[in-house]
Amino acid sequence: MVDVTRRDFIKGGLVVSVALAAAAAGVPLVEFLSSERVVVGKVGGGEEKKLPMRIANKKDLKPNSQLQFLMPINPDGSRGQHPSILIRLRPELAQKAGTEFKAFSAVCTHLGCIVHLEPNDDIYCPCHAGKFDEITGDVLAGPPKKPLPQIKLKIDEKGDIYALGWK
Ligand code: FES
Repeated sequence: MVDVTRRDFIKGGLVVSVALAAAAAGVPLVEFLSSERVVVGKVGGGEEKKLPMRIANKKDLKPNSQLQFLMPINPDGSRGQHPSILIRLRPELAQKAGTEFKAFSAVCTHLGCIVHLEPNDDIYCPCHAGKFDEITGDVLAGPPKKPLPQIKLKIDEKGDIYALGWK
């Protein structure tokens, strides 16, 4: 896993492409980059990572937590660096979902703010209190009308988690 702080992320030269992608998606970039932990497929060189893309290892996330990363393709199929979140479900939800891990676009389907997992609750958008189901991405509350696009995942025998594409 390439694990970078905000400073490393900016040094890595990806900020321009992310800024363009974020601007195109109407994403508040400062909010996404204000996280202490940003994970990207590859840093530097401006080279786009291809799918499948390794996001993290299972042991990198505790249950009931999230990790931010950038998908190299937007949900509409265009190329870009799309803010996304990998979630390790809390045990009772993992049992219901039949899997411990879920990944979604982090871009709210209302007006494009960045969503995050509220521990012991749902995926939350701070802009207008939108809420999304952390198993399905479906809208639970607030003004969003569409669910969060979901990312297909694969976990190998070493516990490495890969993004395969958008569902
Ligand atoms: S932008 Fe997310 S609820 Fe409005």
